[in-house]
Amino acid sequence: MTNDKNRVLIFDTTLRDGEQSPGATMTHDEKLEIAQLLDEMGVDIIEAGFPIASEGDFEAVRDIAEVTQNAVICGLARANFKDIDRCWEAVRYSERPRIHTFIGTSPLHRAIPDLSMDEMADRIHETVTHARNLCDNVQWSPMDATRTEFDYLCRVIEIAIKAGATTINIPDTVGYTAPRESADLIRRLIETVPGADEIIFATHCHNDLGMATANSLAAVEAGARQIECTINGLGERAGNTALEEVVMAMKVRHDIMPYTTGVDTKKIMNISRRVADVSGFQVQFNKAVVGKNAFAHESGIHQDGMLKNPQNFEIMRPEDVGLSATNLVMGKHSGRAALRAKLHDLGYDLGDNQLKDVFVRFKALADRKKEVYDDDLIALMREAGPET
Ligand code: KIV
Ligand code: ZN
Repeated sequence: MTNDKNRVLIFDTTLRDGEQSPGATMTHDEKLEIAQLLDEMGVDIIEAGFPIASEGDFEAVRDIAEVTQNAVICGLARANFKDIDRCWEAVRYSERPRIHTFIGTSPLHRAIPDLSMDEMADRIHETVTHARNLCDNVQWSPMDATRTEFDYLCRVIEIAIKAGATTINIPDTVGYTAPRESADLIRRLIETVPGADEIIFATHCHNDLGMATANSLAAVEAGARQIECTINGLGERAGNTALEEVVMAMKVRHDIMPYTTGVDTKKIMNISRRVADVSGFQVQFNKAVVGKNAFAHESGIHQDGMLKNPQNFEIMRPEDVGLSATNLVMGKHSGRAALRAKLHDLGYDLGDNQLKDVFVRFKALADRKKEVYDDDLIALMREAGPET
């Protein structure tokens, strides 16, 4: 894909891990629309679904594979031939197909299929070999990697690489790790596993303790070159790493995280809104990057500072994520400078005395209402009469 050693691949799993979030089910057409938006936005890999899960999932992955132009299209499969064959049947329609197969390797997860360590190692060898015989691009994940014994993790990763895996994903399935540990794990795996320099390590973090973004970025600093994430952080329980957060963090703090992605960040806000609409999961107001308040200011001191220089209180430009402008919200914390600027935008240029009078009435109104809208201000100006 690229030889740039600081290029981080963005693997979006909104349509697979994101959709697994209870209540987030999307229709076939909605999935196609989101996949096309992701493709246009410059995401490198789209995990389009879990083809064995249902006929609908199979059809969605197959159709996404057919209509997308740029991204690698990936499907998920458990560690058995039936899942892998079904996955291949769906992704093979893409110009760039990928099979992603996984098995839980931690002591807790090994107990689910009741396999010994040796039996599981054999299963990994057989299934990754099978996937690689079908497709050149194979990703393998040891589910619950962050709670797997390090020696066993190294052993099974080596087996998967020898069997033909081209990407090794390290899932923090239950959001258990912390940034320093996430980095140490990736660094030690790269140093220890034979063949590690021939494949890409991916990081796949869940947000149970609110550390998914930090854990993903720490993994990148230690050598991971693929981040698995979802739009708006959609995903089971507390969700997955939010695409918009990791991408903007690497862009805004490029000075200390000199990594690049292929994502056109100006498309972030639009896709965030579409995912919120189709999944029914509205974005919390104070969500980083895409929340309604991420570029909104109400307090007088902040509004005054923003009017003087937006960098006083904003580290990103709204245009960089696809917003037309900062939102100076008029409310009881707003000051005179913001009111003057807002009235100017609405066509009213007031002298100091007039402004003083209108400001008193504006504050009285703001005490009664949470937010004062443009229409409220126009009504206020009309009540004030022609001299204002
Ligand atoms: O969280 C997880 O472990 C997963 C795997 C299927 C990669 O989503
Ligand atoms: Zn996951």
